[in-house]
Amino acid sequence: MAETNQSGNGNNHHEVIIQTRKLRRVFGKTVAVDGLDLTIYRGEIFGLVGPDGAGKTTTLRLLAAIMDPTSGSATVAGYDTVRDAEAIKERIGYMAQVFSLYGDLSVDENLNFFADVFGVPRKVRQERIERLLEFARLTEFRKRRAAKLSGGMQKKLGLACTLIHEPEILYLDEPTTGVDPVSRREFWDILTDLHVQGVTIVVSTPYMDEAERCSRVGLMYQGQLIECDTPEAIRKRVPGKVLQFLPSDRLKARAILRNTPQIHEVQSFGELLNVFVDDVKEGEQVIREVLGKAGISVSNLRQVQPRMEEAFVSLIRRRARARAGG
Ligand SMILES: Nc1ncnc2c1ncn2[C@@H]1O[C@H](COP(=O)(O)OP(=O)(O)OP(=O)(O)O)[C@@H](O)[C@H]1O
Ligand SMILES: [Mg+2]
Repeated sequence: MAETNQSGNGNNHHEVIIQTRKLRRVFGKTVAVDGLDLTIYRGEIFGLVGPDGAGKTTTLRLLAAIMDPTSGSATVAGYDTVRDAEAIKERIGYMAQVFSLYGDLSVDENLNFFADVFGVPRKVRQERIERLLEFARLTEFRKRRAAKLSGGMQKKLGLACTLIHEPEILYLDEPTTGVDPVSRREFWDILTDLHVQGVTIVVSTPYMDEAERCSRVGLMYQGQLIECDTPEAIRKRVPGKVLQFLPSDRLKARAILRNTPQIHEVQSFGELLNVFVDDVKEGEQVIREVLGKAGISVSNLRQVQPRMEEAFVSLIRRRARARAGG
């Protein structure tokens, strides 16, 4: 996936389109964005992931030139976000985490409203609206009031409204949160179409399967970028090997293994446990031994490949421990 995204559409991936330098934004005592050095290339789908309050929304707002940094700077398409905010606003589309459609207006009327806001000329407007309706698979719902659309359709309408002025850069803040899996997939198919057309996309998401679809992912934690690489490279950054099994008592097994020196890390995965070890054979022995002593049985033990989810949790935990001085 990352391979295709990075080289499949003929874009020049070495052209920098977004660059931040020690970007920082403070609210009172809260450091929301803490010295961000980020480079994004034209044509990327760049994923911003991180726990609640990590600074994703603030970063997107700074890059959208709708908020000024406390210090540091950012350029977007060569323009400075403070000095040239207007030039940037013409070139970007920003879909906020809570995107406000007009519930009383129809799909058509919402698109026309945003066309007015962005000064889309009358001549090209109708054709563009038709194309976007088609693109978002909303043509047959065009007369329906926005409030009566399903959650997934509202997100697609939000996206269509964000695209009305044909931005070259798209910022999407958790565009699929709370949307059912089928609609999420459809939304991402639309993003892939935009990506193929050459639009640069920066998208924040809490979903690791979506992060897997990005060309690169930036992992934010407490305002800092703690990792920034392809999904594949981030997955490989997990220390050691991962063993997965079903214990007869998950909570007790987890507590015991967390105090076992040979075990680096324990993560719950539904009823299963994922355990990080240096060596598969030795790890298996240790698990069976310490849990056996406590009368806990182990079944379906096998080695699994770490996914983004495991990598993400592991990297955040390591950072949290380092912060705590551990
Ligand atoms: N306008 C504001 N005034 C005061 N504090 C703010 C403001 N905006 C953000 N913050 C604080 O800055 C930090 C980062 O917030 P931000 O919304 O950027 O995080 P996020 O990663 O988008 O979180 P979420 O996943 O919950 O959307 C949080 O501690 C938040 O409370
Ligand atoms: Mg947010």
